[in-house]
Amino acid sequence: MKALILSGGHGTRLRPLTYSQQKQLIPVANKPVLFYAIEDVIEAGIHEIGIIVGPNAEQVKETVLSEDWDADIEFIYQGDPKGLAHAILVARDYLGDDDFVMYLGDNILREGIVEHLRHFKDGDFDASILLQEVPNPQQFGVAELSEDGKTIKRLVEKPKVPPSNLALVGIYFFKPVIHEAVRNIKPSWRNELEITDAIQWLIDNGYRVGWTKVTGWWKDTGKPGDLLDANRLILDDIQTEIQVETKARIHGRVVIEKGTEIDEKTVIKGPVVIGKNVVIRNSYIGPYTSIGDNVVIENTEVEDSIILPDSEIRDAGRIVESLIGRGAKILRGSSHPSGRKFVLGDMSRVLL
Ligand code: TTP
Repeated sequence: MKALILSGGHGTRLRPLTYSQQKQLIPVANKPVLFYAIEDVIEAGIHEIGIIVGPNAEQVKETVLSEDWDADIEFIYQGDPKGLAHAILVARDYLGDDDFVMYLGDNILREGIVEHLRHFKDGDFDASILLQEVPNPQQFGVAELSEDGKTIKRLVEKPKVPPSNLALVGIYFFKPVIHEAVRNIKPSWRNELEITDAIQWLIDNGYRVGWTKVTGWWKDTGKPGDLLDANRLILDDIQTEIQVETKARIHGRVVIEKGTEIDEKTVIKGPVVIGKNVVIRNSYIGPYTSIGDNVVIENTEVEDSIILPDSEIRDAGRIVESLIGRGAKILRGSSHPSGRKFVLGDMSRVLL
């Protein structure tokens, strides 16, 4: 059994962050989203992992290889992102005749994949997909089940009249017959080779596609609000681990890493994670905040936000529900003319 984790794509919905970094590397609770997928796969006993890379291939390689994984990891270059089924096409040689799990690298699944993999193996399905009940199936790929409810009869993309409230999650199990399916489908209206079309090809050609229900939370971190949601969900499960001396007032569950300095005028209310070599003075850090390495925060209140490494925030008032990119600066100007002064990247968003 192998794993194919997708870490290509342009991530346009996460601009401007994705102009300079691959979206699967954006940290949630100070860990790249992609690492949650790698951990799930290894936990399920899969130690051969192919990672699909695209626009920022070197960055993904460097970040993944900075950790010591209990797996052999290979990188497979996709070039232009031409669809999820296209990723399987370019990974043909790597996958050989093995069964594999395909895991979208921007998805986080709280319960991992162990039970889902067991169902795929025990049921001897040709493919098995994960489904979750959602209140708004019109916005997802949706499954229609067979009469006995055991297999999938049909998949529909963003249906106006949904056949069920079961949405497709970004994790799929396949037998090698999927290679024949991806060779036999045509690009969709958006000019991508769609994985739903490949799975539908399996069904139409008499292959058995099983499914399992996701019972814990699942997050696709494709948009800024989703990243903040995922950050809240992960922080809900952290345990206190404070590796420095500090006289700050700390309430609730908080992680603080080495080399960080927090003064006695600062108040921290967990759940919060703070990385290495951070400096915080006379500030309030509120629940559901993740602060990356080397950040400086002074005379500021931050809550429910993700602050990436190396940023500097001083005298900034109160910041909530924000995603602050690497090396960003939010400062109070003192020179005339007074007023709000911005240097914002293309596609930035500011809510005043
Ligand atoms: P999307 O969320 O569609 O990724 P995207 O980069 O196209 O995002 P946006 O719509 O914001 O531009 O894809 C799901 C996941 O699969 C994501 O982790 C990126 C990855 N992917 C590839 O690796 N190759 C591809 O060809 C595509 C379409 C996606």
